[in-house]
Amino acid sequence: MNIYLATLLPEALLVDLPEIDAQHEEIFNRIEWLKTACFDSGYVPIDEFQSLLDLFALHFATEERIADEAGLDFTHHAGVHGDTLRLLHRALGEVLSGGQDAHSFLRYAECWFERHIREDDRLFVAALQSGNYIPSRRQQTVASHCFSAQA
Ligand SMILES: [Fe+2]
Repeated sequence: MNIYLATLLPEALLVDLPEIDAQHEEIFNRIEWLKTACFDSGYVPIDEFQSLLDLFALHFATEERIADEAGLDFTHHAGVHGDTLRLLHRALGEVLSGGQDAHSFLRYAECWFERHIREDDRLFVAALQSGNYIPSRRQQTVASHCFSAQA
């Protein structure tokens, strides 16, 4: 799959942690690509929907790793991640069985993610920054790779 879309993240959704902002943008890009693919052809590319859920899982694991490295209590936030992944997998199953349409699934995923960034991730990053959190070298490398790949 060849995905390239211009930056979709409005400034209000930037959390000022490059690795996380890059992942947020990649997920929004994937959702937008899937919307276009479904609208254009009426076909639901199941593998691409699954890969969207894989991106969510990777992103949640990244936040959980960063919180762990910083020694933050991430129990509640990680619980939200787990509940959401279960819900998204169940909803995707409904799409596959014809019980829910793909566009509703994508709109739900997009709205949920935007709210999660505004309400949960911003608090998480604020907690990191208040503790003088310094990203590890690995995080800096991953983040710069993501941004250079988009240039
Ligand atoms: Fe999160």
